[in-house]
Amino acid sequence: MEHPAPAVTGEPQVVVVDDAAAAGRIVAATISDTVRRAPTCRLGLATGSTPLPAYRLLVAELRGTGAFARVQAFLLDEYVGLAATDPASYRATIRSELTDAIGVPPASVHAPDPGSGRHADLDAACADYERLLGDGVDLQLLGIGRNGHLGFNEPGTPFDTTTHVVTLSDTTRADNARFFPTPEAVPTHAVTQGLGTIRRARHLLLAATGAAKADAVAAALEGPLDVSCPASALRLHPRVTVVLDRAAAGALS
Ligand code: F6R
Repeated sequence: MEHPAPAVTGEPQVVVVDDAAAAGRIVAATISDTVRRAPTCRLGLATGSTPLPAYRLLVAELRGTGAFARVQAFLLDEYVGLAATDPASYRATIRSELTDAIGVPPASVHAPDPGSGRHADLDAACADYERLLGDGVDLQLLGIGRNGHLGFNEPGTPFDTTTHVVTLSDTTRADNARFFPTPEAVPTHAVTQGLGTIRRARHLLLAATGAAKADAVAAALEGPLDVSCPASALRLHPRVTVVLDRAAAGALS
């Protein structure tokens, strides 16, 4: 059966700045602005290295202000088999890098919870998180993998997927080994918001810095709209902002 090509609904707004610090300032300002306009908004957060300059700025500016006290935060993904208290879990990471310091109450920080209690059944963990996300977050911050992944949606993931269990690729496990004591300690599976889940957000904010991301960024923005580059799904969304430093923009035409 033939599938019609999906419609491209909007051109991402691409902002190129000098370096990762400048990218961090734009990301932090976009997040603060969203919360200033809607103090009870639903904010989609990413982990990994790219958001850290933005998170540090937010912590420096907002600690003790209470500005984020009514925000509900949602993570993109979580490893299977790590307790929420494991420092390598994304739940622990986002609390230590951002949400505790800017005063988002722990009960307002949501993430998939794969592996414990009722969520020993991973399908139940996925279904519950998808239900919690409802009609999507107001702003979703995203990083991009060297292989074009968004969240943990690896190449080959259909664009309409909901929250699901993934087997992590060798590239992704190697890239994330820096957060674990040994490469073997990197979990083999994760639960991630699907590309369909991510696309339900009102506004997508993708940040990429460094030359290692240049090919993935070019594939996402200028390559075929195809599951071989999950991040090309961004072009199906009507409101996307892409913040790049010069190195990450280096392979764009
Ligand atoms: C993180 C996530 C991943 C990262 C991506 C880039 O929650 O879902 O998609 O955004 O792997 O990671 P960094 O920023 O470490 O290069």
